Amino acid sequence: MDWGMKNRLSKIIKPKDGRTVMLAVDHGYFMGPTTGLDHFTDMVNPLIPHADTLMLTRGALRNWVDPNTDVPIVLRVSGGTSILNDDMLHEGQVCSIEDAIRLNVSGVAWSILVGAKYERDTVLGFTEVIDQCEEYGIPMIAVTAVGKDMVRDARYMALASRMAAELGAHIVKTYFVDGFEKVVDSCPVPIVIAGGKKQPEADALKMAHAAIEAGAIGVDMGRNIFQSESPVAMIQAVNAVVHDNHTPQEAFELFNKLKTQ
Ligand code: 5RP
Repeated sequence: MDWGMKNRLSKIIKPKDGRTVMLAVDHGYFMGPTTGLDHFTDMVNPLIPHADTLMLTRGALRNWVDPNTDVPIVLRVSGGTSILNDDMLHEGQVCSIEDAIRLNVSGVAWSILVGAKYERDTVLGFTEVIDQCEEYGIPMIAVTAVGKDMVRDARYMALASRMAAELGAHIVKTYFVDGFEKVVDSCPVPIVIAGGKKQPEADALKMAHAAIEAGAIGVDMGRNIFQSESPVAMIQAVNAVVHDNHTPQEAFELFNKLKTQ
């Protein structure tokens, strides 16, 4: 692995403990003004100091993020369909790697739809972009997206994650499921979990903790942070689980304490 690739990976995964709290705020690329992100800067600016990495789109970055920021950026480069479309997540490349480099990103993200009708398109698009990334030392985060009708279990997540890694992903973002150890054990690259739909804060913290216990290196969490009753308290509680080995109970107590401040 070349120096540039390693250096960019060290911006995403913190060398002090090999873990990361990525804040996912890329939802607008297929969901439009999602609850919580309708006024992007009001929500995201107070969260940035607590995020190891910000995952978002080119448009959000250019329009709403201060270029003086020192938060590392992971840029979503796949897209093309909305939640209104039956073929949601049948995605192609929506941003060139040259533009990603111009935006000084630390990594890019791409969704693959394993097991669905358009699996082949999303997977071949993914490997094509990895070839472009390799040329410049840009890490690729594979998002193992789950279509509306697909089962989420350890067998499926392990298959999708292993495929992503074998095809060249540097990090895999997947969903937490029972038996998550199987997903981590069979995947040769670091795994972060997506948050998924909003759950009560205590449950989201339990999930993050269980994922770390199973071997994930962190989270790439969106709605469970920005749709929380107190997003700034929630991201700090997630940090406590990921970086400070808090139990879910300790992290939830921290959340309750911080939300009143
Ligand atoms: C879709 C995505 C989302 O855009 C997002 O990053 C998911 O975050 P969360 O589920 O935590 O809200 O990756 O596949």
